Order: sequence, then C-alpha cells, then structure tokens
Amino acid sequence: MLAGMATASRRNASAGWTFDEVASAGRENLDVDHVGRYDAKADAGAAEELVVLEDLGLGPESVVVDLGAGTGQFTLAAAPACRRVVAVDVSPVMLSRLRTKLDAADVSNVEVVQSGFLSYEHRGNPADFVYSRYALHHLPDFWKAVALTRVRHVLRPGGVLRLSDVVYGFDPAEAEERIEAWCATGGTDVEVAWSRAELEEHVRDEHSTFTWLLEPMMQRAGFEIEAAVYVPDHFSAQYVARAI
Ligand SMILES: C[S@@+](CC[C@H](N)C(=O)[O-])C[C@H]1O[C@@H](n2cnc3c(N)ncnc32)[C@H](O)[C@@H]1O
Repeated sequence: MLAGMATASRRNASAGWTFDEVASAGRENLDVDHVGRYDAKADAGAAEELVVLEDLGLGPESVVVDLGAGTGQFTLAAAPACRRVVAVDVSPVMLSRLRTKLDAADVSNVEVVQSGFLSYEHRGNPADFVYSRYALHHLPDFWKAVALTRVRHVLRPGGVLRLSDVVYGFDPAEAEERIEAWCATGGTDVEVAWSRAELEEHVRDEHSTFTWLLEPMMQRAGFEIEAAVYVPDHFSAQYVARAI
C-alpha cells in the first residue's frame, strides 16, 4: 500500500494532493542569513557520525546518500572515506552553500541533487548507507511514512539508515510541560545558538513526532531498528536501522 503510494506520488508530481517539499523546508533553511551562520551555530558532529558508520561497514566502496544534507557537514566528512556521496536537499540556499564548500574542499566524488525525501530518484548502484540528520521532521507523519518507504528502496537489502531527528519520547499528557521546558533552554541571540523563538517555531510550524509513532513507521517501511539513542531528555533520537 505504502510502496504504491510512493510510486503514485512520483507519477502524480503535479497533482493537487502532492506535498510541496520546498514550501515545507523550514523558513530558516531558505533564509540566506540563517544558512550563512549555520555551520558556526550548529555542529552536526560529522566526524563522530562517520565513525559510527565506519563501525557499521562504511568503506572505500560504499555509496552514501545524505538526505537533507544542508550545508553538507556530513557529506564533506564522508566523501574521503567512500566511493560516492549523493547530497540531496530541497533548499537551493543550502545547496549553494554546500557547492561553495565542495569547490574549496576539492572533492570529486560528491553529487549535489536538489530534491527531497518524496522526490529523490536514486540512480546507479543501490546505496549502502542513507544518512539523514534533523530533516525528516519537515514532513507531516503521513508523508514521513511515504518517505521512509522510499528511503528503503534507495538502500540495498542489509543497507543502513542512520536517522537522527528531533523526536519526542514522552507521553502526550506531558507535552505542555515538556515542550515549555525545552523552549526555555533557547537563548536570545540567533547568531550563536538556537533561540527560544526558533525552538517555538520548530514545535509550532514543523512536524516532529513521537518516538512511538516514528518507530512503527520505520518498521512498516521495511527497517529493523538495531539501535536507538534518546538525547537529551528525550527530545532527540538517533537510530541505526537496517533495511530488511
Ligand atoms: C536542520 S537542517 C540539517 C542539515 C544537515 N543534515 C545537518 O545535520 O547539519 C535541515 C535540512 O533539511 C532540509 N529539508 C527540509 N525538508 C526536506 C525534504 N522534504 N527533503 C530533503 N531535505 C529537506 C532543509 O532544507 C535543511 O537543509
């Protein structure tokens, strides 16, 4: 059913019911000022993430797709360690910044594709790894389920999805108290760290979901969840999921 829907969404890309991934990319991800300060403000821990994937088998022959690559912190860390990296993002502003960084880094095995979870068409050998950090929450849950099914088909059987995102690990009855406590951790200066206004915007305008909704979606899409780490205080989850 979901695989059929994934196919249908591609076939009917211009139909009125399809999801506009650019319009839902997040206001800030289309904002030149935000993208310009992103790397100074947000450390994606790419070196540590690469070690996680190397422990799972990433090597010189690996094909990696970075979905929601942003400014490409992980893409740039992974490129010297594997055969091919495809950096996919819907934001032309993010991709412009990534292309500038790639030119300066002088790497030749990275392809940059302006596309999204619901539109990316993988070509060539199936991916060994799909990496996605803090991007899936831009889709409402219905479309997350479709996206995860599409991601499964980008990977070879046995391939790995490394998925990190803002995901809520608490009960709905606790939502008001927990969300308010999270927003209170935000600062006031958007130049240096996530501000309270940005955290509020995330909860209000984007689509982070509960762990107990996301995890069955991953399983339904054809993944076995091998590891799940919930940090900090159950506002973020990092998964290793194996394509069955
Ligand atoms: C918070 S940034 C994270 C970037 C990068 N993964 C990192 O960890 O630094 C979220 C990224 O997801 C991208 N994005 C939003 N919606 C998307 C979609 N439907 N498909 C692919 N990327 C999307 C945004 O343009 C943005 O670059």
